[in-house]
Amino acid sequence: MVKYTSFYKVKTKDKKEDKVLFTSFLTENSSQTKKIGQSFAKDILKRYPAKKAVVLGLKGGLGGGKTTFLQGFAKGLGIKEKILSPTFIVMRRLGISGSRFKNFYHLDCYRIKKLKEVSALGLKEIMSETENIVAIEWAGIIEKILPEDCIMLEFEFMDKNKRKITIK
Ligand SMILES: Nc1ncnc2c1ncn2[C@@H]1O[C@H](COP(=O)(O)OP(=O)(O)OP(=O)(O)O)[C@@H](O)[C@H]1O
Ligand SMILES: [Mg+2]
Repeated sequence: MVKYTSFYKVKTKDKKEDKVLFTSFLTENSSQTKKIGQSFAKDILKRYPAKKAVVLGLKGGLGGGKTTFLQGFAKGLGIKEKILSPTFIVMRRLGISGSRFKNFYHLDCYRIKKLKEVSALGLKEIMSETENIVAIEWAGIIEKILPEDCIMLEFEFMDKNKRKITIK
């Protein structure tokens, strides 16, 4: 696994940029991608004390590793249930315990044709509730309604087992 040295800083309320949440990675197999997801989640639990929801937007083509990353991410949140590729389920909620965050929402917008469909799910409200962590696969489709401070993750297919994960 190659780790790049580009850091991303999150602006806090007082506009101080002091929260480094990530680097970008080149992974060589799915378990490396899961591990990155897992430590990313632990970082969020540690470094997001502010009263705010966390929204992750995942972009990149089929088989890019978005769901694989989120399997590790959910594990890092302490979630025991298996994270599935929600092909026909647009949204799934899983409970988080032992943290100020209570819910992990996993969405897959691949089949979303109109923004109205996600509005009907109450997504805007979900993204504004401080106790929620929301991860959205195919986030580009609903980009317009994503919050300003949404953490964007891009998954690039390099070859059969290589993926580049960039967090913007
Ligand atoms: N380095 C890697 N990181 C992640 N997945 C990998 C890697 N190498 C191979 N794979 C394989 O690629 C596939 C990634 O599938 P995954 O469902 O995570 O992609 P996805 O981006 O969620 O796709 P979709 O757009 O269909 O939801 C899995 O079968 C996984 O085993
Ligand atoms: Mg997926």
